[in-house]
Amino acid sequence: MTLRFSHVVARETPKGLAASHFSALVAQRSGGRLVIEVFPNGELYGDDDEMQALQLGAVDLVAPSLSKFGRIGLPEFELFDLPFLFDDLPAVRRITQGPLGQRLFQGLTRQGLVGLGYFDNGFKHMSANRPLLKPADYVGLRMRVQASRVIAEQMRALGARPVTLAFSETRRALQAGVVDGTENPVSNFWTQAMHQVQTDLSLTQHGYLGYAVVTHQRLWLSLSDADRQLISQALQEALVFANQIADRQNEQALAALRLAHTTRIHSLSDSQRLLLRRAVQPVHDALAKRIGAGWMQALARHTR
Ligand code: LMR
Repeated sequence: MTLRFSHVVARETPKGLAASHFSALVAQRSGGRLVIEVFPNGELYGDDDEMQALQLGAVDLVAPSLSKFGRIGLPEFELFDLPFLFDDLPAVRRITQGPLGQRLFQGLTRQGLVGLGYFDNGFKHMSANRPLLKPADYVGLRMRVQASRVIAEQMRALGARPVTLAFSETRRALQAGVVDGTENPVSNFWTQAMHQVQTDLSLTQHGYLGYAVVTHQRLWLSLSDADRQLISQALQEALVFANQIADRQNEQALAALRLAHTTRIHSLSDSQRLLLRRAVQPVHDALAKRIGAGWMQALARHTR
C-alpha cells in the first residue's frame, strides 16, 4: 500500500528531513508493505491546492504550516501567528503538546481530516532589500505572506502591504519585484535561494512557524488498528527527530548564508525588538475575534 505525502519545501529543510525519516521508519517496520512516497517542493500540490487534494484523497498526508488552516475554515489555528507570542520553543510545545493542541485537532474532523502531530520549524525573520530594524523601515513595502489574516495584519501594523502568495511562487515574486520582502525561518530562506534576491535579512525572531501533519478520515478509518499504530508511532518518532534537528538546520542555513556573502545579516538590539513588538501588539486584540474569544482565553491561560 502506497501513501502519498506532499509538502511544499525542500528536502533538506526540517520538514523535508522529517518526511524522509518517517518514510524510512514506516518502510522498515512494515517490511516494505507500507510505502510513504514523499513529494517535496510542491511538485505535486502547492499551498493553494494541497488541502483540497487531501480532502479529495488525491494525497494522503500533508504537513502545512499552522498558518494555512484558517483558509479551510479553521481560523483558530492562526493563533500561532500572533507576533511575539512565544519566547522560545518550550513555550510553543506547552500549546502543541498539551490539551489546547488536542482541541485544535478535534476541529479538523469538521473538514474530514485527522491531525497526527505537530512539529516545529522555528522562528521567522524578516527579509527585504534593506534592513528591517524599526517599524519605519517597513513602511510602504509589499511583503509576501502566507494565507493567514493574522500575519497580514501584522504586516499592516508595521506599515507594510501584505501580499498573499503560495510558497512556491515567493522566490520568483521577489526576483521579479512583485513583492519587496518576506518572512521565514532561515532554513526556508536558504533552501529557496532567496539570498540571491534579497540583500538584507534582519533577525527579528518575531513569530513562530510550525506544522501539523494531517491525513484524511477516509484513509485513516480504512487502515487496520495495527497499521494505524505503526504509522502513528513512526510519525511521533519522526517528529521528535524533526524537533531535534530544526534548530540545527536553521543554524546551518545561517552559517551557509554568512559564507555566501550575498545578504547582509542584521541582529536587532533589545530596544529595537521592543519597538517592533509594541508596533505589532495591537494585532493580538484586532484578530482576537477571528481566532475566537474562547481560544484567546485558553491561550492566555496556557501562556501565562
Ligand atoms: C511558507 O509558506 O512561508 C512556509 O509555511 C512554507 C513551509 O511550509 O515551511
